[in-house]
Amino acid sequence: MTANIEAIVDPQVASRIRDIGRLSTLPQVTWELMRLLNNEETTPEDLQTVVEQDPALSAKVISLGNSAYYGLRTPATTIARAIVIIGFKELEFLALGLGLADTFDLRKVPYGFDGEALWLHSLSVSWAAREVAAATRLVDPGEAMLAGLLHNLGQIMLVTHFTVQLQRLMNYVEEGHSFAEAEVDLGLWHEVIGYLLAKNWGMPSYLQDVILYHHRPELAGEDAKGIVTVVNLALQMVDRTDFRLDYEVRPESSPDYAEVLPQMSLEEKDKILAKIKNTLPLMAPTWLQMMGPAKKKARH
Ligand SMILES: [Fe+2]
Repeated sequence: MTANIEAIVDPQVASRIRDIGRLSTLPQVTWELMRLLNNEETTPEDLQTVVEQDPALSAKVISLGNSAYYGLRTPATTIARAIVIIGFKELEFLALGLGLADTFDLRKVPYGFDGEALWLHSLSVSWAAREVAAATRLVDPGEAMLAGLLHNLGQIMLVTHFTVQLQRLMNYVEEGHSFAEAEVDLGLWHEVIGYLLAKNWGMPSYLQDVILYHHRPELAGEDAKGIVTVVNLALQMVDRTDFRLDYEVRPESSPDYAEVLPQMSLEEKDKILAKIKNTLPLMAPTWLQMMGPAKKKARH
């Protein structure tokens, strides 16, 4: 499916993605942290050196390390200590989340679209994917977390960079078409749009696959099937919480909750679902804080 995938997207959109890939990228500190976090010899002090370069990230790391979620009695006063508490993979999640929030201003979206809901949904899927990965041991929980965070990169991009096309899409939906149909008919598949950007940015191939196949895990290649399926189940779990996304695409061929990941029984799935239903509301305030205030200038 990936051979000539660019051809199925509106040509104007495809060409703008190439420009965005060149002009707008995640902040340098995000790439630097991701590089360090993927090196087994990295210490909390190495990470502190990089985090300190970014005052906003430093503040978020300290505040997350001290958040209710970790329930500390003694406050974490240094960045290195906060990093130890949060954990390396969660730091990667935080850095990437902040980088995304900086690059894509979801507080500035077309009227009628809920940017906060899209943000909270992405982070919720990320959290759920980590739980599913830890329970099944199919894939690395940290990778599942990043994959969940980025799975809807295309939709994030549509609402922040393609507002005219998004409006067309929403009008089309109002005429009675489903969101999935509208994306196909107008050449605005959010999975493909996200995939093209991830490819331009040189993201790891497992992330590209998750972005492209998160609604259709059966189409993913053998290498990526595990992680794509984990994210798909996480997505279906979040659909059963207050953090669901009302305008999310649901292809009819998407696998059923009960049948996806047959390695897990329905009871096991429901146990994770109950856990995330408790955790998500606890994390939501920190996640909203990560979005920061609306930026002065639109980045279109
Ligand atoms: Fe999606």
